[in-house]
Amino acid sequence: DDTSGATLRTPIVAVLGHVDHGKTSLLDEIRGSAVTEGESGAITQHIGATAVPLDVISEIAGELVDPTDFDLPGLLFIDTPGHHSFSTLRSRGGALADIAILVVDVNDGFQPQTLEAVDILSRTQTPFIVAANKIDTTPGWNPNPHTPAQQTIDAQTDRVERDLNENLYELIGDLSDNGFSADMYWRVQDFQNNIGVVPVSAETGEGIPDLLTVMMGLSQRYMKEEMAVDVGGPAAGTVLEVTDTQGFGKTVDAIIYDGTIRSDDRIVVGGVEGPIVTEVRALLRPRPLEEIRTEGQFEQVDSVAAADGIKIAAPDLDDAMAGAPIRVVGDRDVDEVVEEVQAE
Ligand code: GTP
Ligand code: MG
Repeated sequence: DDTSGATLRTPIVAVLGHVDHGKTSLLDEIRGSAVTEGESGAITQHIGATAVPLDVISEIAGELVDPTDFDLPGLLFIDTPGHHSFSTLRSRGGALADIAILVVDVNDGFQPQTLEAVDILSRTQTPFIVAANKIDTTPGWNPNPHTPAQQTIDAQTDRVERDLNENLYELIGDLSDNGFSADMYWRVQDFQNNIGVVPVSAETGEGIPDLLTVMMGLSQRYMKEEMAVDVGGPAAGTVLEVTDTQGFGKTVDAIIYDGTIRSDDRIVVGGVEGPIVTEVRALLRPRPLEEIRTEGQFEQVDSVAAADGIKIAAPDLDDAMAGAPIRVVGDRDVDEVVEEVQAE
């Protein structure tokens, strides 16, 4: 096994899909918090990152996930906005992802930003599954909160089950029209060549145990080797957003996908006028299971290892650019790192 010696990092999961199809609600349900409530205009304006550790996943997934079957530490979810004007944020999230969830409102089916998301995922060759969301809105639905999909579908009347299946097969047809062979996830054997569709409700939590189980299984099966990184090495990451943080001035919200960043590291950050060489002043972490963009909830930490979301406070970040690379200099020659950042 060539993954021995290295540490397994958390896979990065992008959540993509058309506006209002339920991406934030889905993460909200997983997180058990109420980020959706606080959104201005009900549009997700920024990418946020949510780390969900394996023990929480196995708690939600119940008997479907036996934590001893997995050695990946959990999943790091990145929410993206569905509104058509946020296309760069979506591709940024998609490009960063190891794996993705395409959220589709089961009644609404494929919509313009669903297609756009599929294009991003194809272009970046990111494996994904489809969450067919809002199954609870099928007329006559009798909710069984937090139960696996098949269990709650079996418990519906024949008519409700038939109506849902009609929508699900239309969705599978849309995927097929776009060149993807797809089927209900419980019929998929080979997730590398077939897209699994998981019926879910972000409202009732139905199908969420399956969704997490499939994501965990997929990551473990197909991502494990890519997840074997030298987490002790100098960090590499991507700026999601340049933000103002009270008491710290300009900061960057970043996803660290390799290595470790420490609170006294010298870093190079891509900027409007070229790479910025600066020194970390503070690493600010949202409380566990909180979104990185939730303000006033930060604790200062000494170091952060991949993969994780972190707010970095440092001087001279005014020109830092969303989407730009971040590198810890470490023992390397700073010019070499500047060149690396410039080249990206
Ligand atoms: P953008 O970030 O704007 O792209 O939207 P989004 O995909 O994050 O959608 P969001 O989670 O904000 O949900 C949009 C609306 O659909 C909200 O009113 C949610 O309460 C509702 N909603 C989301 N998921 C479900 C679901 O499974 N069932 C029901 N009944 N409503 C849902
Ligand atoms: Mg949203």
